[in-house]
Amino acid sequence: MSARINPSIGAEYARIMSIGVHRPSRIVTNAEVCEHIDSSDEWIRERSGIIERRYAGPDESVVDMATSAAQEALTQAGITGDQVGMVILATVTHPYQTPSAAVEVASRLGTSGAAMDISAACAGFCYGLALASDMIRGGSARYVVLVGVEKLTDWVNPEDRGTAFIFADGAGAVVVGPSDEPAIGPVVWGSDGSQKDAITMTQSLIEFRDTGSETFPTLEMQGQQVFRWAVGEMSKASQRALDVAGVAATDLDAFIPHQANMRITDAMVRALKLPAHVPVARDIAYAGNTSAASVPLAMANMLESGEAPHGGTALLIGFGAGLAYAAQVVTLP
Ligand code: UT7
Repeated sequence: MSARINPSIGAEYARIMSIGVHRPSRIVTNAEVCEHIDSSDEWIRERSGIIERRYAGPDESVVDMATSAAQEALTQAGITGDQVGMVILATVTHPYQTPSAAVEVASRLGTSGAAMDISAACAGFCYGLALASDMIRGGSARYVVLVGVEKLTDWVNPEDRGTAFIFADGAGAVVVGPSDEPAIGPVVWGSDGSQKDAITMTQSLIEFRDTGSETFPTLEMQGQQVFRWAVGEMSKASQRALDVAGVAATDLDAFIPHQANMRITDAMVRALKLPAHVPVARDIAYAGNTSAASVPLAMANMLESGEAPHGGTALLIGFGAGLAYAAQVVTLP
């Protein structure tokens, strides 16, 4: 007979304890973006809702921005580095294949806990939240630092009309810990790799090396294809996340979707029949699309402005390259 193995036992529930952000100081207007592409301030505002965005400087790496946001979240939670069991970094823009950005962030935060990067693009934060919640409930970590961070300007061609005006930089972090009450609902998530080419790179780093190409690989996006998928499928996924959480749209204190395009957000609000009293994150206007960072940045903005209450109920959904998505209902920190 095999030996009895002790099971891993965690907390009954998990919750988001705190939030911290890093918004780069450099504000970039549509006019500045249009110095490199054939477009206009009017077109960008109308088609995406973006008025301005923030670009990180040379001294603001993925690791720097993530550490800054995570440190703020830890301070807010009153948790010290040595209590952290896991650092999860959701990012697709760390410029090293290995080691992960997370190990460096963990070290700067003063923890020797586990650390890893996850690659789920704009769904990364919501993927990470599901993992963090399951780790805490499963007993593999008591406190998890989860960061969504991107320096997309390193990977976007400023002359590409299809992406240059959308993507931007920033970081948002949360501390996830044990809870007496359910505060992170069941995740609704999935992927559709048959649409992997909808958001991809112009070439791989190996192709770049082997072909002697002078054009560094950058992001490319089939905007309309992603738009159609997001409006159709992501509205349904949002509704499913409400259903499995047992929460009605009318009981929400905030809807915080990935900040992909203001028109996608508007279409989702209509499809969900979200009552007018539910505040909707519209952070894209001043932050642009920051991929994995967009949901926590938008959440922090709504809490800072008082638009959404601390302790309120929010529906989150992240979606993008993969195509991949994740949605859940949470109690706001
Ligand atoms: O975060 C990851 C997930 N990403 C998304 O969810 C992004 C989803 N997609 C989108 O947000 C939108 O597709 C975009 C904002 C990227 C583009 O907006 P669109 O309304 O889908 O534009 P379009 O590609 O259908 O182009 C419409 C017109 C075309 O001109 P004609 O053929 O109608 O004369 C384009 O040539 O707009 C033109 N156009 C532009 N004009 C000015 C395309 N890009 C630009 C531009 N400036 N940058």
